[in-house]
Amino acid sequence: MRIFSGIQPTGAKHFGNYSGGFRQYAATQELGEAFFCVVDLHSITVEHDPKDLRERTLDLAAMLFATGLDPQRSTVFVQSHVTAHAESAWLLSAVTSYGQLGRMTQFKEKGERQEFVSAGLFTYPILMAGDILLYRTDRVPIGDDQRQHLELARDIAERFNARFGDTFVVPEGVYPEVGARIMDLQEPTKKMSTTGGTPQGTILMLDPPDVIRKKVKSAVTDSGSEVRRGDDKPGVTNLIDIMTVATGETPGAIEVRYDSGGYGQFKADVAEAVVALLEPVQERYRELRDDPGELQRLLRIGADKAREVTAPTLEAMYERMGFVRLR
Ligand code: AMP
Ligand code: TRP
Repeated sequence: MRIFSGIQPTGAKHFGNYSGGFRQYAATQELGEAFFCVVDLHSITVEHDPKDLRERTLDLAAMLFATGLDPQRSTVFVQSHVTAHAESAWLLSAVTSYGQLGRMTQFKEKGERQEFVSAGLFTYPILMAGDILLYRTDRVPIGDDQRQHLELARDIAERFNARFGDTFVVPEGVYPEVGARIMDLQEPTKKMSTTGGTPQGTILMLDPPDVIRKKVKSAVTDSGSEVRRGDDKPGVTNLIDIMTVATGETPGAIEVRYDSGGYGQFKADVAEAVVALLEPVQERYRELRDDPGELQRLLRIGADKAREVTAPTLEAMYERMGFVRLR
């Protein structure tokens, strides 16, 4: 079984990314042949600083290994190192509907926040479809916010297969049962995010323990004192989910343990659970991030493997679409 996912080197990575991304990657790598891509080409769809992009790309690569991707098992690489990604996006634009791209919520939301809306922000989901389809991917571990893009990638695969012959596997999205949508601690009706959320409500992967404690303890909770999940309790529900993600305990077990004991102890324990999870990750991250030679070496191995695997798919795309090939 083939597994593929991508993550953007924009913005500091946060606990939502851990829950919908990193944690799932490390778990799914056990299930088959896995590819994880730092999607730097996606990061130029909103205004970016070149120096920043360079640093963030290496930061994120180090974070992927620090959160448990095993270079012996998984292929970890940078999207721009494998030119098939950019090429496939152009080819797939022929089987992508303009109307459907315009209906993407992420495009509408991010577009509203930009003064300059680039064409790339609009065609972004085609590049993402190419990422996935090039590997004949069976499963894509992602967070809930990417559901619409994944559905579009499936449509693109089906349209291409119907018009040019069976070429792509139609991929399935894999969403975590708990924690597919971690919410902002200060505004628990918004998803945790470095672009749309509040700084105080966003736990960063690299936040020092005391900052994590302060953020969790000042999280907005709801009226009453019962620790239980429910639509009327978005703040507490989110904290329970965070604890589930950090400890592996079920939400039910957490509810039973804290029951109506009030929020004080519960929040303190959630904070400690997150600290215990992130401290060793931060340590591994520092070690690798401070070793640029080793990072380069790992990313080169990843890129070589990714090129090898994508070449036949890209070739089949060109062939079937009627391009003359040199022999
Ligand atoms: P990005 O940093 O936008 O490239 O996202 C990387 C991964 O994190 C994707 O699979 C997203 O679906 C996931 N993700 C982002 N924000 C959240 C959140 N608040 N809760 C759960 N997953 C998230
Ligand atoms: N669009 C995804 C996000 O913002 C990142 C991404 C790009 C991706 N290509 C992908 C995710 C392919 C899964 C598969 O989170």
